[in-house]
Amino acid sequence: MPECRTCGGALTEVYDFGRQPLSDAFLEPDKLEGEFFYRLAVGMCGACTMVQLMEEVPRDKMFHEDYPYYSSGSEVMRKHFEHTARDFLDTELTGPDPFIVEIGSNDGVMLKAIADAGVKHLGVDPSGAVTERARSKGIRTRTAFFEESEALAVVAAEGNADVIFAANTICHIPYLDSIFRGVAALLKPNGIFVFEDPYLGDIVERASFDQIYDEHFYLFTARAVRNMARRFGLELVDVEHFGVHGGEVRYTIARQGAREPKPAVEELLAEEDARGLAQLSTLEEFGLRVTAIKDDLVTLLTKLRDEGKRVVAYGATAKSATVANLCGLGPDLVEFVCDITPQKQNRVTPGSHIPVRGPEAFRDPYPDYALLFAWNHADEILAKEQEFRRNGGKWILYVPDVHTV
Ligand code: SAM
Ligand code: TMP
Ligand code: ZN
Repeated sequence: MPECRTCGGALTEVYDFGRQPLSDAFLEPDKLEGEFFYRLAVGMCGACTMVQLMEEVPRDKMFHEDYPYYSSGSEVMRKHFEHTARDFLDTELTGPDPFIVEIGSNDGVMLKAIADAGVKHLGVDPSGAVTERARSKGIRTRTAFFEESEALAVVAAEGNADVIFAANTICHIPYLDSIFRGVAALLKPNGIFVFEDPYLGDIVERASFDQIYDEHFYLFTARAVRNMARRFGLELVDVEHFGVHGGEVRYTIARQGAREPKPAVEELLAEEDARGLAQLSTLEEFGLRVTAIKDDLVTLLTKLRDEGKRVVAYGATAKSATVANLCGLGPDLVEFVCDITPQKQNRVTPGSHIPVRGPEAFRDPYPDYALLFAWNHADEILAKEQEFRRNGGKWILYVPDVHTV
């Protein structure tokens, strides 16, 4: 019986996405050989309820010098993190010698406003090029994997932190026990650990199965996070649900007894119970919806190809690796994917080998249909690409079901 990565309990598999590549490993078109594949499958722990991948990909295959995701690419996300930074500056970072550490600080999208305010900060992120970008903006950053030993090195060099923040990163880290031991060592007695990640509740509600890929090792709920924190003398004291990236929850964790849990925690736990988020049957039903979406998307794209329509995709997201490889999409069904990230352009998508072009290719000329892989940025993208629909173009979305707009 497979074991839970966090508590050792029995893990039950609920959906198998088959053979998948590394979601962010965009390839040079003439160097396709030797591509790495693994089996992407998701399961739930019967003891602590944590939903997680059945197989772990070695971390340095995913996060390295050439990791191509730059957080500052989205205007909406820049605003979201600026707001987050201002909140910390106004609340938790007002005492003497305030200090904030960010795990997975990437290109410095959140720490920028902290650095500009002259407050002591440190980013920790293992990916070389993105951390270099952060340093070039004046943000203090260590290029390293955060884990217990790294946390102890930070304490020795910099002292303890008032706030440890992480966005879209803690769910990427299979070795959560080491993270929580590190957090417990690094926090000041009344410090807080705040992290936000895609929420299982939204993934199930929207059938957004493409949130499941190599880097998203865990799909959190408040219940699973609270169980985890308690094993390390920590307590879940607040939760906040918001809409970015298709639905996320921000969890606030403090030392047990240091802060009174807010009513929002019990409220979300009750809602999760009512929705059966810790029940296998809920995830099995989700799996049936995934299979239906896969079948509908393949049917639609095949029909459009047979009718001679041009279909391109928009946003070479990590998420799209799961969709493309589950559905067997290739350049015969999707001509190219456009994306603003220079590090992805002129490469091909992992596993599915669809060419990636810059955003200018989108309007040269407009296709008949655009498959919106970056559906989590739909408002931002539809607003700036209004001309596409004025030209008769249609967007294809596949969550919560396959439809065009
Ligand atoms: N926080 C940014 C955001 O929300 O846009 C970046 C998110 S990005 C999807 C995940 C980041 O986590 C990457 O920059 C990756 O290098 C970093 N990462 C992965 N494992 C890590 C670890 N053990 N410690 C610190 N950062 C890690
Ligand atoms: P994400 O869903 O992981 O944030 O990735 C979004 C991808 O979409 C990333 O490669 C950048 C790209 N993108 C565009 O090409 N145009 C846009 O307007 C936005 C917001 C993102
Ligand atoms: Zn468990």
